[in-house]
Amino acid sequence: MKVTLDTPMSEAQEPPITDIRSKVSAMRRSYGEVGLTEGELDQNPISQFTKWLADAATNPFIVEANAMVLSTVFENQPTSRSVLLKDVTENGFTFFTNYESAKAIDIAANANVSMLFPWYAMERQVIVLGSASKIARAESEAYFATRPWSSQIGAWASHQSKRLATRETLENAYSELANKYPEGTPVPIPPHWGGYLITPTNIEFWQGRYSRLHDRVRYVRTYDAAAKTQWNLERFYP
Ligand SMILES: Cc1cc2nc3c(=O)[nH]c(=O)nc-3n(C[C@H](O)[C@H](O)[C@H](O)COP(=O)(O)O)c2cc1C
Repeated sequence: MKVTLDTPMSEAQEPPITDIRSKVSAMRRSYGEVGLTEGELDQNPISQFTKWLADAATNPFIVEANAMVLSTVFENQPTSRSVLLKDVTENGFTFFTNYESAKAIDIAANANVSMLFPWYAMERQVIVLGSASKIARAESEAYFATRPWSSQIGAWASHQSKRLATRETLENAYSELANKYPEGTPVPIPPHWGGYLITPTNIEFWQGRYSRLHDRVRYVRTYDAAAKTQWNLERFYP
């Protein structure tokens, strides 16, 4: 059966891009006047992050404000993928995943990770460096219980990052599990699924400015004599 998609007139009239290479080299935006001064930055980077996350979450041009690019390293080879931020507190940043996935194998060997929040529509990015560790089982269970039933079944069905022979194999596994745990009944958390907390050591805020004179400020974690966290704020050349 032929499926016809409705296309808005403006899109329908756009000529097809025939030479994306020459186009992409000429693509650039001028960034704005909204600056980032030391005076207006919160002394606490988590509070500053929370403000920017709230800005991104209410910006109609940003989809999935809580999506971030998580980079891990295995044997000197970095890899990146998107994950969703599910909590942020003074302790750090939490996301959920499969504990047998490629990223989990990387983290088991090297807990140092980088997270990047790309809020391009606001000419902003935040980069967090830190160390990942598994959260308490009870916390993962509590969060898993709030997920939609279909996502819960999906977490059981996916051997994330493993080679998959055919899509049908995955869909059959999903159907079997959907029969095993019918909708409306509690779905237990898979043993291979849970959360990680990233404890930050560096949090950098980037705000695009005119003439490529962007603002770039970084909070670096230090400790006082009583081993209490202090954050030093440093400005960097863009
Ligand atoms: C917007 C977006 C959000 C995603 N969120 C998650 C997530 O929260 N957890 C997760 O395990 N995978 C998430 N994924 C899928 C990952 O990017 C990735 O494909 C998967 O985790 C396997 O990664 P790995 O093989 O490097 O471990 C998301 C993908 C996108 C595009």
